[in-house]
Amino acid sequence: MGERFLHRPALLEEVIELLDPAPGKIIVDATIGGGGHAEEILRRISPGGLLVGIDRDKESLEIAHQRLRSLEGQFKLINKNFRNLREIILDLEIRGIDGILFDLGISSIQMETKERGFSIKNTGPLDMRMDRNQYLTAKVLVDTLTEEELSCLIRDFGEERFHRRVARGIVEARKRSQIQTTDELAIVISKNIPYSSRRRKIHPATRTFQALRIKVNDELSALEEVLNETPELLKKGGRLCVISFHSLEDRIAKNVLKEFRAKGVFDILTKKPLRAKDEEVSGNPRVRSAKLRAAIKKQD
Ligand SMILES: C[S@@+](CC[C@H](N)C(=O)[O-])C[C@H]1O[C@@H](n2cnc3c(N)ncnc32)[C@H](O)[C@@H]1O
Repeated sequence: MGERFLHRPALLEEVIELLDPAPGKIIVDATIGGGGHAEEILRRISPGGLLVGIDRDKESLEIAHQRLRSLEGQFKLINKNFRNLREIILDLEIRGIDGILFDLGISSIQMETKERGFSIKNTGPLDMRMDRNQYLTAKVLVDTLTEEELSCLIRDFGEERFHRRVARGIVEARKRSQIQTTDELAIVISKNIPYSSRRRKIHPATRTFQALRIKVNDELSALEEVLNETPELLKKGGRLCVISFHSLEDRIAKNVLKEFRAKGVFDILTKKPLRAKDEEVSGNPRVRSAKLRAAIKKQD
């Protein structure tokens, strides 16, 4: 694992405090990525604990495995979509989980590997798949969606004000020649965002890239489905932590937690979502948008 991959996991201290890993506990890291949170959790649940680490990205899982090798025997790694969490737990014959962590989106490893096509700044193919075995890529969307479909996608999953102009720009550009790379796409998008509406620190293509990534990976429905299953998987007193990186994910987490609180299933541990402190943001600007929400399954 290269130096460049070793970012500190997002909101690590806050996650540890809220998830409360302790010796003997069973914790699911549903988005293990490079294994940053998992490593700290594993240290705290041993002896006797078990960490189940899930990622739909095989390459990330291999990196996590390398990182956690010295703790072999205390974790199980599963290469699946977390939307299958119930089956995963059933297959492992686990009854009652003490904590579940979702650290959503993509990792810095994925972002910094240009061949994965997630990055606006590094030229790469229009890919954006977390699971490289699936058919749908960003290129398929960019090549085949109609202008109307692109516009709705960029509006709904990117919350981009200029969705119509961006969609039209993409369709016009692809008539001239196929859009092949992330930077070609970023240029087309940027040309269609007025200068006066650009924000200094945020690339004008960010929202459209987010929209394509969410669609390619069907991120929002997987999240909603799995969060709705968490109460039946957690023990009483079990804890759920969700770190989101944009408002669409955060809204889902907020609403599901609120619904379960209203039904008397969860107590919410974070009245307002926790944000990264300035020191953390200055070391890793990506956490600027991170929000952490947590809940605990109520005792009878
Ligand atoms: C932000 S990273 C996690 C980083 C990790 N917490 C760490 O400390 O290294 C998110 C990871 O979740 C994975 N992921 C996202 N959605 C997923 C899903 N529906 N099922 C399984 N894994 C998913 C991504 O492939 C990525 O590796």
